[in-house]
Amino acid sequence: MKKIVFLTGAGVSAESGIKTFRSDDGLWENHPVEKVADICGWYENPLYVNQFYNMLRSQLQTKQPNLAHRLIAQLEEKFDVVVVTQNVDNLHERAGSSSVIHLHGELMKVCSSKDKEDVLQHRELTENDLIVKDGELSADGSLLRPYIVWFGEPVPMLDKAIEEVSSADVVVVVGTSFKVYPAAGLIHYARKDAQLFCIDPNQTSAPTSLGITFIKKKATEGMQELMKLMKF
Ligand code: OAD
Repeated sequence: MKKIVFLTGAGVSAESGIKTFRSDDGLWENHPVEKVADICGWYENPLYVNQFYNMLRSQLQTKQPNLAHRLIAQLEEKFDVVVVTQNVDNLHERAGSSSVIHLHGELMKVCSSKDKEDVLQHRELTENDLIVKDGELSADGSLLRPYIVWFGEPVPMLDKAIEEVSSADVVVVVGTSFKVYPAAGLIHYARKDAQLFCIDPNQTSAPTSLGITFIKKKATEGMQELMKLMKF
């Protein structure tokens, strides 16, 4: 079975009504990036950060997967599909994708702030258990924190993502500006004979030297075009 790896960014969720980061009214909702998306912001004011992520979680409940998420999931009928996403939403999973690697963490998960990768302290939040109370503690006595990879933190899923990209027959990038590393560098791990596609309505910083086929469309339209190219 041919293997397709999708590398997705905020653009794949844009048509679900989730703002991208680098648009004018970006996803940080006018909160300073250094306060809500940087490990230093957490150290300085964990309550502010906790409330911000509570707000994002509540917003996520009102959003639904769009056609692009659903078509990516549908491709599993004929291909081995792995999604490597920079998004912290759960729309790929809710659309039915069974193999999703979250490079930048997951909005619906919280963890210990003493040891973020201690899986015993990970807690999956649900629609009915969305809000982390100010000062709420993990079992190890440290503050519960969002399971998000902030600026200044390592990217634990990076090696796994590299392994997936380097074994793919087809790599499809959807809706990322290629501005944030190491995610932006993953495409360079694709095999020389892999087919590469990039779906984005705008000019991005994607490398021009790799022979990528650019589909300059929004995710939903671009995915429909890709389905035809994949003879689906
Ligand atoms: P960006 O906001 O940087 O880029 C979004 C991309 O989506 C742009 O290239 C847009 O042109 C494109 N786009 C907009 N609407 C689209 C649509 N309907 N269909 C397809 N594409 C569309 O978001 P990311 O590249 O995902 O990390 O940002 C990368 C990382 O920056 C995020 O994961 C986040 C942030 O820092 C962390 O917070 C750790």
